[in-house]
Amino acid sequence: MADNIDNLLTETRRFAPSDEFTANAVATSALGEAARTDRLAFWADQSRDLLSWQKPFTQVLDWTNPPFAKWFADGQINVAYNCLDRHVEAGNGDRVALHWEGEPGDTRTITYAELTADVKKAANVLLSLGVRAGDRVIIYLPLIPEAIVSMLAVARIGAVHSVVFGGFSAESIRARVDDAAAKLVITADGGWRKGAVSALKPAVDEALEVSAHGSTSVEKVIVIKRGGNEVAWQEGRDLWWHDLMAEAEPEHVAEGFDAEHPLFILYTSGTTGKPKGILHTSGGYLTGAAYTHKNVFDLHPESDVYWSTADIGWITGHTYVVYGPLANGATQVVYEGTPDSPEPGRWWDLIEKYKVSIFYAAPTAIRSAMKAGRQIPGSRDLSSLRLLGSVGEPINPEAWVWYRDVIGGGKTPIVDTWWQTETGSIMISALPGLTTLKPGSAQVPLPGVSIDVVDDKGLPVGNGQGGLLVITEPWPSMLRGIWGDPERFKETYWSKFEAASLGKSQGYYFAGDGARKDEDGDIWLLGRVDDVMNVSGHRLSTAEIESALVSHPIVAEAAVVGAADETTGQAVVAFVILRTSQVDTMTPEDAVAALRAHVAHEIGAIAKPRTVMIVQELPKTRSGKIMRRLLRDVAEGREIGDTTTLADTSVMNAIKIG
Ligand code: PRX
Repeated sequence: MADNIDNLLTETRRFAPSDEFTANAVATSALGEAARTDRLAFWADQSRDLLSWQKPFTQVLDWTNPPFAKWFADGQINVAYNCLDRHVEAGNGDRVALHWEGEPGDTRTITYAELTADVKKAANVLLSLGVRAGDRVIIYLPLIPEAIVSMLAVARIGAVHSVVFGGFSAESIRARVDDAAAKLVITADGGWRKGAVSALKPAVDEALEVSAHGSTSVEKVIVIKRGGNEVAWQEGRDLWWHDLMAEAEPEHVAEGFDAEHPLFILYTSGTTGKPKGILHTSGGYLTGAAYTHKNVFDLHPESDVYWSTADIGWITGHTYVVYGPLANGATQVVYEGTPDSPEPGRWWDLIEKYKVSIFYAAPTAIRSAMKAGRQIPGSRDLSSLRLLGSVGEPINPEAWVWYRDVIGGGKTPIVDTWWQTETGSIMISALPGLTTLKPGSAQVPLPGVSIDVVDDKGLPVGNGQGGLLVITEPWPSMLRGIWGDPERFKETYWSKFEAASLGKSQGYYFAGDGARKDEDGDIWLLGRVDDVMNVSGHRLSTAEIESALVSHPIVAEAAVVGAADETTGQAVVAFVILRTSQVDTMTPEDAVAALRAHVAHEIGAIAKPRTVMIVQELPKTRSGKIMRRLLRDVAEGREIGDTTTLADTSVMNAIKIG
């Protein structure tokens, strides 16, 4: 973190928006003024302006039982209706909702009218299979239009989706199916990735077979044909999507649900081995999604072509591929595959082809593109771009400036957006027509959002100082809890800064990130302060990977750290002690290969350690706590820091030499 701060302190470049951009910008200074005048009235106005409520709300925020907030609680809304039917009713049925492109180059253009018709049918399919409001549905799909149709169909009938990223393993699916007690799974016979079809259904089959209790809550599995490969079939349980859709009733009237009706659960890694089911509800979440999407991305829905490269398996895919853009009636590009398939210019080809004007991606991808060289994007016409976004991890100033110069033609504003699965929507970002940009800084809390940087006691650090990032007031798209575990919700996010110790009427939400306020009060994110890693913008838990490693029979003990990595931000580095009885049974190379494969099997390929070091001992404090700080020093090739609290100081020499 110290290196980080040094770099940031020397960053003095500034980029003001052009007069033309400012003149046409969606967000003006009126937004901030309204939010400062009356925060709750501001949110109520946003919600009424941006969304269509079936029963208008009269209450804005109920914070009588913190940290369990209720927003717009006496209102009723249908989330899918807001993303679909109302645009058709307003005369925009022929507007393209999705320019979808498969990795092999197949394409589909889907208008709002067509998307609405598909979602209505899919809603009827779910109902015909006995899915009811409140039931949980697991979605394990590639980024194909049916994934979006499935999410909206689930939302339309008031059921609750939990999307599992297609790169996660059978074990990860099983854990999520069990925790959510899901009734139905929607998957595919495969999806395209890096020029080949990756299977998905076998992972679902395996997950349901090994379900923890010997039985599974899942009654039906719907399978979408995409990969064209053979799938094992369980009669009575497995059903083809296309058969069901062919027979489905076309009409479905969207019913309003209470604003606090659950919309989705999205599992994310925390500091323990067990992923947390982050719960989001309907009215507040959609308000945050629509408000931020419109103002941060300066959306002009009648003329812009928007593209977020995120997968629906992550929160960015939920908020900025599905709910935000569709609630705002945007036209967007959705691409199934990887940026480098079949060759490294694929993303830039798509920008040229669809004349993308707003582009949202992760710093890790920008750094990869930088490495590949500017001639690759340079040979494409990217002049349609007028705004760029960044998300998922801090973007280093060099990558920021390259992004603006090479992709943005030296003219586009870049919005560096800080937020989390838990926050539901963007919390800190420049507003592109208003803010003079600083490369590397996420800059300002959005109007309506209350953020501070505090010390360990919760006191504001003030400008020019670093500390911990907190959110000091509730916000509409905040998580409503951890599925099935209210105590963990309180403990994880609200126990560090409690109302009583702050001497206030409410506590602060602790985000887990370190941050610094510069002399102007702008915020620079400095990375996680807990045992959570950020690899390629994806959140991974050290504890979860450690428990995967120790579940392998050759492992006695394991410690995992995130080490700085030029491309992926952080990389997973594991230190492993083998069981004495196993040491001679295989070569160290085979052991390392077996352990990397094991982590991929237990969690998914994204969690596979970059490096596995086999060691004799791990550095521990006298109370037995692993000193990850020292392991990070080793992993990053630094001089080893202070070892005075180590129980056995010779350990570090052993590790260094080993
Ligand atoms: O550490 C922060 C980092 O990503 C974490 C949230 O991860 P996740 O819930 O998976 O959501 C990622 C997409 C919103 C945060 O705690 N993070 C996210 N955006 C930024 C960031 N760090 C620095 N700058 C950002 N713009």
